[in-house]
Amino acid sequence: MPMCDRLKNLLTLNRFPRASKYDARWILDNEMGPNALWLAESLSQVMPLSPGMRILDMGCGRGMTSIFFAKEFGVTVWANDLWIPARDVWKDVHAAGLENRVFPITAEAHALPYADAFFDAIVSLDSFHYYGTDDTYLRYFSRFLRPGGRIGIVVPGLVRELRPPLPPYLTRRRGRQPPWWDPTECWSFHTAPWWRRHWEHTGLVEVETCAMIKDGGKLWLRWEHALAAGKHSFSGFPADPTVLRADRGRYLGFVRMVAEKAEGGR
Ligand SMILES: C[S@@+](CC[C@H](N)C(=O)[O-])C[C@H]1O[C@@H](n2cnc3c(N)ncnc32)[C@H](O)[C@@H]1O
Repeated sequence: MPMCDRLKNLLTLNRFPRASKYDARWILDNEMGPNALWLAESLSQVMPLSPGMRILDMGCGRGMTSIFFAKEFGVTVWANDLWIPARDVWKDVHAAGLENRVFPITAEAHALPYADAFFDAIVSLDSFHYYGTDDTYLRYFSRFLRPGGRIGIVVPGLVRELRPPLPPYLTRRRGRQPPWWDPTECWSFHTAPWWRRHWEHTGLVEVETCAMIKDGGKLWLRWEHALAAGKHSFSGFPADPTVLRADRGRYLGFVRMVAEKAEGGR
């Protein structure tokens, strides 16, 4: 099969009909980790989004998901990121003709430039674990959401808690590459019950749904195959199908959580 057909096939899934329409090369060129469009569509399946809503896409990377939400649901998106400058995101927004509905912003997660209660909803794909595991972060972050609005995240997560010693496939060196499990980052991966407790404890939100995405490990592996099929060398995360194959969904996957901010909440 020609390379681009295989790539297209790998990125086409019945369960994600919206994401499957997008150009495979565009997805690879803008990727920063496991297919953000799959994660975004998965979130949209449990989180109501309607035209005209003001949405914060927190940690949007190169803005693919911001473009996706604006196009697919008619929402207006503030595409907030730290590592990718707003001017880079703007190029794609402009190319998509969404200049009036996607606004790229460069801002750090603890210094957000928005008015209190400005957003109708907040989404975050493969990003919240970088700053949101701090016990006090939700108090700060949720103030930008109007009471009754929803926050939805999808993060790399764990089917069950991991404790040292870790399974050898996670910690072995891969030739000259470091181990897949980067201890300075991966300990921010948690289970769905951990995330639920983390937010419920605060009393600021009511968690509506929190669970592993079905077959998340398989999705992640399929993504690794797509990177290989596209001969794509950059990934926000070490691409290594052997690790996900060895894991067989025992530990690795994605947690999806949606919560509603209490009416009368701060
Ligand atoms: C793995 S990338 C995912 C990007 C995008 N959501 C996607 O899935 O393609 C994580 C993103 O989180 C953002 N991020 C990490 N720490 C952040 C912080 N402290 N403040 C704002 N954004 C942050 C980074 O800028 C980065 O683009």
